[in-house]
Amino acid sequence: MEKKIFAHKDLLGIEGLSVADLELILDTAVSFKEISQRSIKKVPTLRGKTIINLFYEPSTRTRTSFEIAAKRLSADAINISAATSSVKKGETLADTVRNLQAMAPDIIVVRHACVGAPHLIASRIGARVVNAGDGANEHPSQCLLDLLTIREHKGRLADLRVAIIGDLAHSRVARSNMRAFAMLGIRTRVCAPPTMLPREMGVFPGVEVCRTPEEALREADVVMMLRIQLERQDDVLFPSLNEYARRYGLNRQRLALARDDAIVMHPGPMNRGVEITSEVADGSRSVIMDQVENGVAVRMAILYLLGGQAE
Ligand code: NCD
Repeated sequence: MEKKIFAHKDLLGIEGLSVADLELILDTAVSFKEISQRSIKKVPTLRGKTIINLFYEPSTRTRTSFEIAAKRLSADAINISAATSSVKKGETLADTVRNLQAMAPDIIVVRHACVGAPHLIASRIGARVVNAGDGANEHPSQCLLDLLTIREHKGRLADLRVAIIGDLAHSRVARSNMRAFAMLGIRTRVCAPPTMLPREMGVFPGVEVCRTPEEALREADVVMMLRIQLERQDDVLFPSLNEYARRYGLNRQRLALARDDAIVMHPGPMNRGVEITSEVADGSRSVIMDQVENGVAVRMAILYLLGGQAE
């Protein structure tokens, strides 16, 4: 069988990928899932490779998941968080990157509050770059783990109906997913308070904007809830969190509007009692922990396809 190649230097977003690229990453992730079930969770695939996790924004899942993925493939993983680095002493991004390049890493995984920071780094460095979230722009590894989780539970991607509800304006997860869903023939409905809708909805063709969560949830196979990103909101975008929970939050009654076999997703971290009740988040329809589990396999696939294919 012909070996399929991921023909990109970096993974900066869903934009620029083909359906074949998405499928290659998902299928590779499936083949890696079993490694995490072994008693010795390690294969030598990326032995001798150096992977730097450069995180300028807080992260629990994404950073840990990339580190575990690197270690399960036997790469050396180094974590740099802005809070404890020379960024605090005023070093520019370009200088940090120049210094890291001098230490010859193979892959740099970057999270940054500025849109385009990973793209800038990728253009200046020989190492491969993975975008782990840039501002409100893209979060491709989260999108891919969401796709894997949906495909596992629904057996397919095409023709599904997905409802995305919450703070879309600040969500890089929603933007990456809306791009991928359009490519894969998934029908997307979104709902947010008008103050939390992206201004550039027009660049996401085929996405239906609904005025109420009830409308978005009708017939949905997949319900994806988003966190209100208070840390990115300069203005008050909603009168109160209680009011938000009442109008937009996912509770048992609202979930009943979706299909009987609908799954519930959330990228984390969750504001329990705001965008989702604990009853639903921890209930039988929730696949939120499957998303986290699949995150490791997807990131192993990304690191392998970028760093380990040549050998
Ligand atoms: C998301 C992010 O950072 O974009 N979290 C994640 O990576 N799992 C979503 C969020 O912060 O709400």
